[in-house]
Amino acid sequence: MSNRKCYHLVLGLLLALTLILTACAQPQPTQAPATQPTQAPASQPTQAPAQPTAVPPTSAPAAKDNKLEVFSWWTSGGEAAALDALFKEYNKRYPDVEIINATVAGGGGSNARGVLQTRLAGGNPPDTWQLHPGWELMGQYLEAGYIEPITDLYKEEGWFDVMPKGLVDMMTKDGETYAVLAGVHRGNGLWYNKKVLDKYGITIGQTLSIDEFFQIAEKLKAAGECPLCVGDSGIWASAQLFENTLLGVIGPDKYLGLWNGTVSFDDPEVKKAMEDYGRMLDYQNADHSALSWDQAVKKLMEGGCVFNSMGDWAYGEFVNAKQKDNVDFGWVSHPGTAGSFMVVADGFPLAKGAPHRENARNWLRVIGSKEAQEAFNPLKGSIPARTDVDRSKFGPYHNWSMDSFAKDKLVPSVVHGSAAPAAFQQALNDAVTTFVVDRNVDAFAQALVKAAKEAKITP
Ligand code: GAL
Repeated sequence: MSNRKCYHLVLGLLLALTLILTACAQPQPTQAPATQPTQAPASQPTQAPAQPTAVPPTSAPAAKDNKLEVFSWWTSGGEAAALDALFKEYNKRYPDVEIINATVAGGGGSNARGVLQTRLAGGNPPDTWQLHPGWELMGQYLEAGYIEPITDLYKEEGWFDVMPKGLVDMMTKDGETYAVLAGVHRGNGLWYNKKVLDKYGITIGQTLSIDEFFQIAEKLKAAGECPLCVGDSGIWASAQLFENTLLGVIGPDKYLGLWNGTVSFDDPEVKKAMEDYGRMLDYQNADHSALSWDQAVKKLMEGGCVFNSMGDWAYGEFVNAKQKDNVDFGWVSHPGTAGSFMVVADGFPLAKGAPHRENARNWLRVIGSKEAQEAFNPLKGSIPARTDVDRSKFGPYHNWSMDSFAKDKLVPSVVHGSAAPAAFQQALNDAVTTFVVDRNVDAFAQALVKAAKEAKITP
């Protein structure tokens, strides 16, 4: 399938996803608030349930060394803790396998994806790695012939019955499925330091408009606070602030139109989003370019700034720092984006020529299991990809996000590889790097118009 066809497929699938999900066997919430919860979370499960008996322990693999190399960029406190939970689940079932934790630091895979490409091109693949469905999977790994189908695992493990079809379809081509999801992040979160807001008598409701955000930011600034935390030493974090603001200003339908070529990047509403994004940058911390995304979350926790627009891997940082939902920190959809769920799903494939093939297939079995999804996601901030998990094992944030996933419009993230080809993703990062300094809306719009043409998103 050509890039262009594949891209249409991915977008079509996302458009269809909301509909499909309503028909999915989503379990009834046991404690899911329909609105933003006000209660402290139920205690997070720190331990995985008892070892499952359905899958027998593997016999010794054919490979001479009994190892498994897992490649990812999960190195922040929350990310590493969640990854470790997956490793523990794996070693419960396969205690003799030595796991090689191959990580390359840099949020959003900003450094890792390049290192991975070099390894793949050089015929030196890890057994499995972190990837996003949609363009990233299709364009960077499947078309290049770096991954093998795992459709038989889907059948054996019954995943076709418990994973949302729309998401599985984003990893499927010509009847073969190529990755399994560990979890699904919601990209359009706005996190805040609740204690600082309490100090000023500011309460965030169930939704926040862009105008309301600016009013609060102005009030905080006047009181000598830094309203917005940004950690864009990896520029993707600022690109994410833009992506979220874009969704908030133009809405999900028009946002989807950008990726199927029916909406242009110099559309007046898109330019308005660029202006609002520029206005937000006026409220960011002076040291933004020296901080990574997780350092910005830490700064928020310490009260050095108040809001942070980030995917819910930020939740993993709060949990890792033992902060309490709705006591120390709170969340709301990024201004203007209530009703949309920006999908940033984390999948793992089987490398073609995986050095430890059977161990890698077992890794996929484990991460697709209920036990692993229930152990990993509370720590990571994402919701399980499986729809049959026990929701009572998840706190208020996760239940809120599960509800959002079930009822909101699902839209793909460009910053995290799903919505557009890698070349466009890179062009966006470059345009954001320039815009952060020159704040030139016309030049920003033109750069993206050109990038969309070059990536064949528009004719
Ligand atoms: C995303 C990824 C998340 C999280 C985040 C920050 O691309 O899907 O799992 O790791 O980057 O590093």
